Amino acid sequence: MKAKKIIGTILCAAMAITALTGCSAGSGKNKVGVSMPTKDLQRWNQDGDNMKKELEAAGYEVDLQYANNDVATQLSQVENMINSGCKVLVIAAIEGSSLGTALDKAAAKKIPVIAYDRLLMDNANVDYYATFDNYMVGTIQGQYVVDTLDLENAAGPFNIEFTAGDPGDNNAGFFFNGAYDVLKPYIESGKLNIVSGESTFEQVATPSWKTETAQARAENILSSNYADGTNVDVWLCSNDSTALGVENALAANYTGSYPIITGQDCDIANVKNMLQGKQSMSVFKDTRTLASQVVKMVTQILNGQTVEVNDTTTYDNGKKVVPSYLCSPVFADAGNYQKILIDSGYYTADQLA
Ligand code: BGC
Repeated sequence: MKAKKIIGTILCAAMAITALTGCSAGSGKNKVGVSMPTKDLQRWNQDGDNMKKELEAAGYEVDLQYANNDVATQLSQVENMINSGCKVLVIAAIEGSSLGTALDKAAAKKIPVIAYDRLLMDNANVDYYATFDNYMVGTIQGQYVVDTLDLENAAGPFNIEFTAGDPGDNNAGFFFNGAYDVLKPYIESGKLNIVSGESTFEQVATPSWKTETAQARAENILSSNYADGTNVDVWLCSNDSTALGVENALAANYTGSYPIITGQDCDIANVKNMLQGKQSMSVFKDTRTLASQVVKMVTQILNGQTVEVNDTTTYDNGKKVVPSYLCSPVFADAGNYQKILIDSGYYTADQLA
């Protein structure tokens, strides 16, 4: 006991020489606060679990909180992390602009903040951002449509609808624009026809990324525009939770030939749908890669080292361009899921059965 305490004290003292801040009281380990938006969507549970596991393996104490998609809850959880001695905060915001008071408090206590996956907006007290290349997620989806329909050569026209993400999530615009930019020439030339006429991000957005909201909008679009037997050839969905809503709507309200549907995250329900031909592709963002990168950043920050970033121009949060590390998203479909999802140990075969 005594020896442990002495070693802990020596470690603390050694780290304090190089760290921005010292050890937290109690365990002698630096405590890292990890704030996740919700347990409702599969990916955030994986992100939280990976972060906790990796941070603990690197010798940190972890305060991991989920905010039930409620902004006030997230704000108070982050404030508690600040008050309870966390040395670094890692935050995946529910709504990018809503944590300003907490970020100001963190800055006053010199607690560095890393925005996790979603950018924290409209506040200068965001030190780093780690995410996947969000625009590239959209371009992968758009390019998939171009290739699958052979839009360069096919006569068309093809009918398309869009379903995008939460307007409060800075990522959602990047996803939508990435896909739209790839498809725009074909929309302008008339090869792709948006039958509902809903083409702007605002028109196609899905508040809170909710499956039920995406489903309700898709049901409306189907009954207003496709009930006469018109086929919808493509439904460009920004992620898997919204794709699931569209797939539910199609199952109950559509008899035409099944469209190409895109997604993102490789959620289990969506991979199962992919294997049954109900979703064409998804974009795989390996949450283990993101967690490892963020743990590396935390360690670099606490050791006073240069923090590794690979993008210093793209992510302007309204107050500053936040130095970012962008991981690479990967195309996934029924043809490569075995390799990237099962052989890599992300899922077991049983989970997808
Ligand atoms: C994430 C996506 C996710 C969405 C809904 C976005 O910020 O980047 O991976 O599908 O939120 O949770």
